[in-house]
Amino acid sequence: MPELEKAAIASLSSLAPTAIAPATLVVYDAGYIGGLTTLLHDDPPCPQLPAAITTVTPWLTAYCSAVKSVDDAAVSSALFAAAAGWLRGRGRERMRGPLNPSINDEAGLLVEGFSTPSVLMMPHNPRYYPSLVEAAGFRKAKDLLAFQSTGTLLPERLVAATDVVRRRYRVSLRPMDMRRFAEEVALIQRLFNAGWERNWGYVPLTDREIDHLAGQLKPLVVPQLVAFAEAEGEPIGFAAAIPDFNVALRKNPSGRLFPGILKILWASRRITRLRVLLLGVLPAWQARGVDALLYRHIWDHGRAKGFDWAEAGWILEDNHAMINGLTRMGFEVYKTYRIYERPI
Ligand SMILES: CC(C)(COP(=O)(O)OP(=O)(O)OC[C@H]1O[C@@H](n2cnc3c(N)ncnc32)[C@H](O)[C@@H]1OP(=O)(O)O)[C@@H](O)C(=O)NCCC(=O)NCCS
Repeated sequence: MPELEKAAIASLSSLAPTAIAPATLVVYDAGYIGGLTTLLHDDPPCPQLPAAITTVTPWLTAYCSAVKSVDDAAVSSALFAAAAGWLRGRGRERMRGPLNPSINDEAGLLVEGFSTPSVLMMPHNPRYYPSLVEAAGFRKAKDLLAFQSTGTLLPERLVAATDVVRRRYRVSLRPMDMRRFAEEVALIQRLFNAGWERNWGYVPLTDREIDHLAGQLKPLVVPQLVAFAEAEGEPIGFAAAIPDFNVALRKNPSGRLFPGILKILWASRRITRLRVLLLGVLPAWQARGVDALLYRHIWDHGRAKGFDWAEAGWILEDNHAMINGLTRMGFEVYKTYRIYERPI
């Protein structure tokens, strides 16, 4: 299919204005876009990609191709072949994705759990994507799990444990201070970069990435649902949960501003679903139950505000401390996202 081979570097994408400048490859099929892939590259050198890393990220983007990509292995294989050629010419050895454009943004391809809607800032894709990707030679690199709550009562054991932890280690919790929003965001960035460092696939959250994320989320933040744990006057961990605004956005499937915005505003008053986006404790303070304090804070304040369901995610499939903590609170896995890779 020679037409499909006409892959071109179409543009520098403005979809995700982070520190990394992605390039976009487009595969045209008889005048229509058959698929899109976004590529991270280090030209000019990107501070996030140390020289030792030979992996870059090409993928069908979650933004456009979810609508426009066709269920045709010839299209997707041509797309990946073009991406591989482009990357080979830049000395790359492996492709990994989807990471859109980094693991700190939308990550993974939905492989299980299609029958329920995705929460805010989690990807969704057609069921046929995994088979197209596997047909192009990609294999699993890592699974990311999304957990859902199964009840509204906090287990007694956790309540008792948190009372002990609070007293024993003199740990206190405080909500986000919206008047000092910029400083609070900088604190989240610092805690994230120190707390998550040992996790698979970790890349630091850059200043521009966190500013972009914070700008997007600021209108949705409920201060009590972004909490900091402090000991000896210093922050040692945090948890961030946001209302699942997707519930409201779905009320306006046409995407038109008017009268859609009214429907969205009306529906947003009645959101009862929560996404627990991040929860972490500095390494020096782990294994003391501070995570349980943060769970309890989010749970109590979330319930008080009328939330009756929560997704916690995503969680690396081998993050046993997190999985164990969630399981003990009655959470269960209900969606699996997969990051794939293949040699070039
Ligand atoms: C996830 C995190 C908050 C857990 O906090 P923690 O203080 O390390 O947790 P704990 O040591 O108290 O462990 C929690 C539970 O998991 C268990 N656990 C810990 N490590 C485990 C392992 N390797 N295998 C099985 N269970 C494990 C603990 O025994 C504990 O269970 P318990 O309550 O029955 O005693 C912490 O590890 C962290 O900040 N990690 C980096 C950030 C992150 O990955 N966040 C999750 C994604 S948002």
